[in-house]
Amino acid sequence: MFRKVTLAAAALAISAAFAVGPVWAKPVVIKFSHVVAENTPKGQMANKFKDLVAERLGGKVVVEVYPNSQLFGDNKVLEAMLLGDVQMAAPSLSKFERYTKKVALYDLPFLFEDMAAVDKFQSSKEGQDMLAAMKKKGLVGLGYLHNGLKQLSSSKPLKVPADVAGLKFRIMSSDVLAAQFKAVKATPLKKPFSEVFTLLQTRAIDGQENTWSNIYSKKFFEVQPYITESNHGLLDYMVVTSAEFWMDLSDELRVEVKKALDEAILFGNKVAADKAKTDKQKIIDSKRSQILELTPEERAQWVEVMKPVWKKFEHEIGKELIDAAYNANN
Ligand code: LMR
Repeated sequence: MFRKVTLAAAALAISAAFAVGPVWAKPVVIKFSHVVAENTPKGQMANKFKDLVAERLGGKVVVEVYPNSQLFGDNKVLEAMLLGDVQMAAPSLSKFERYTKKVALYDLPFLFEDMAAVDKFQSSKEGQDMLAAMKKKGLVGLGYLHNGLKQLSSSKPLKVPADVAGLKFRIMSSDVLAAQFKAVKATPLKKPFSEVFTLLQTRAIDGQENTWSNIYSKKFFEVQPYITESNHGLLDYMVVTSAEFWMDLSDELRVEVKKALDEAILFGNKVAADKAKTDKQKIIDSKRSQILELTPEERAQWVEVMKPVWKKFEHEIGKELIDAAYNANN
């Protein structure tokens, strides 16, 4: 009798719990993997996203951030995303080559004069449409995030393109970047970000291109005596997720997660603008690396030899898209 009553009570408790939704339901976990340090625009954006989600969706969605290539490096993260092993990442726009040729637009040297032009283009229809460029491959772009303009760091002072001839440069996995360095007769080597410091330190390569915040946070300036302030290219990111994961979320959660992400991106963009100045200053103050400025005539020489790269990739990227991005400059 007693046993019957307890079983009935337990059954009642279980059905009551299901009626209001199981209190022990597992949260949706978003593993966010990235390759940079936490104290960078991307690192801070990811942590902000995690905090906003915890604050607003506490319990229902949990964001776990894995910085510094801890979980996946550049080469593996998108594959891992399609397999469901990671749910979000923000690779640089140079790292989508295997999934779309269009995004290579952003690697064209001297395309954008400043970040205001980048913002203008990215918020245009053409820029927004590019977020969906990998849909057929199962990847959804959720937004762009800035880092900034790239500089050239080297073991030799670089003022004009002829100074680069014969040097080995690490590049991200982009054929446009490879063509850019070949145009100045350097040897480009596609290597993951996690290997750059050691390659520079051991002199296996002579230089690399990156933003002030990456050069500072990964200590490249400690092993590169010269940095040319070239602002020759853009380092920007796309926050991506898998279409499968994204569409599996309930409508309500998808809206809330996207809102938190948009806010985190705005925050990350402010960090980027700030770090482009403060991290540069920290490198100057360290006196470990000398910063070289280009005269307008010297800069014109770089533009002249690198700009033909645009033509080379016009058929893959599309002339109209290149024009639209270039026109954002004025
Ligand atoms: C690089 O590989 O040089 C950078 O794109 C790393 C990053 O994500 O900022």
